[in-house]
Amino acid sequence: MRIEQNYSLLKYNTFSLDVKTRWFVEYADETDLQNLLRDEYFLSEPSRHIGQGSNLLFLGDYDGIIVHSGIRGVEILKEDGNHAWLKAGAAENWDNLVAYCVKKGLSGMENLSLIPGEVGASAIQNIGAYGVEASDFISEVHAYFLKSGEKKVFSNEACNFSYRHSFFKEPENRGLYYITHLVYRLDKKPRFKLDYGNIRDYLSGKEIDLKTIREAIVAVRKSKLPDPQIMGNAGSFFTNPYICRAHYEGLKKHYPDIPHYQVNEEIVKIPAAWLIERCGLKGKTIGGAAVYEKQPLVIINKNRATGDDIARLAEEIRQSVKVKFSIELKPEVNYIG
Ligand code: EPU
Repeated sequence: MRIEQNYSLLKYNTFSLDVKTRWFVEYADETDLQNLLRDEYFLSEPSRHIGQGSNLLFLGDYDGIIVHSGIRGVEILKEDGNHAWLKAGAAENWDNLVAYCVKKGLSGMENLSLIPGEVGASAIQNIGAYGVEASDFISEVHAYFLKSGEKKVFSNEACNFSYRHSFFKEPENRGLYYITHLVYRLDKKPRFKLDYGNIRDYLSGKEIDLKTIREAIVAVRKSKLPDPQIMGNAGSFFTNPYICRAHYEGLKKHYPDIPHYQVNEEIVKIPAAWLIERCGLKGKTIGGAAVYEKQPLVIINKNRATGDDIARLAEEIRQSVKVKFSIELKPEVNYIG
């Protein structure tokens, strides 16, 4: 078990905020984790489990214990004619896992290329992009229940996945399950999904296979989204809001070009980026935080921003969208502190 005191979290949050935690604990394996979950001091102190911090906003130093998994490794558990079941440790880098699948000819997650973060967090957030969600391929989630120290195996259904949502994000479960491994069921016969946005355009004239799709997704993401290694950010700051059809019809009278995706007969999803752009907030700054010009759903650490700068800018966006469109944006990013 790795234990550090007064530890900088600079490498553990993609906003690149130079905050510290009183304690940082990284368990190497399940035995370490079982010991941690029996430790009286650990159980009596405030703690938060994190992944790579690609969806976190630290509002200041953390006066408690930040926990990180060190469980890595990827193995193919079994195969049949159509599928392969792959088990991955929660601390594996997400994009390395996608690259591994593409190399092995296993299809499903190639549209999720280049998403920052780790495997464990991908199940909690149910990460998604370009018409695919992680939950489309998750077969099992292995996790320890903090309150009893017991190990539980969740089937896909038990995870209660929906858009950027899972059982692990529900208020009564939040922070109470430490994920150790995920099992994915991947296709041996590729079923490509190319209909989102301009993916097909990027592929025109090329042979379509897992490798070229991954390259196209990487190119599209790089053209739209800031690289957190260069400019701190946490991807989309808010989720795309769901509104009722009557609300949408009302808005359409004032804004005939309002984009929308039909979720079901009663519910419509509106791109938050469009709402933010229409509030005139592209490029808006507070302190060192700014709304990214090319994709206003992303807040960037432009110039040594503090967590507070980012939170205040997010609040201004939320208020502006609420006043102009009567829509409540919900942060996708989790606040700590
Ligand atoms: N739009 C604008 N102005 C802009 C940019 C976009 O009006 O400057 C509008 C357009 O109508 C556009 C729509 O927003 O068609 C959607 O934009 P985009 O395709 O960039 O996707 P998004 O809905 O903003 C979601 C995910 C992203 C994911 C992309 C691609 C959420 C919260 N975000 O963004 O995920 O990469 O789709 O699938 O669902 C993340 O979660 O961190 C993330 C980056």
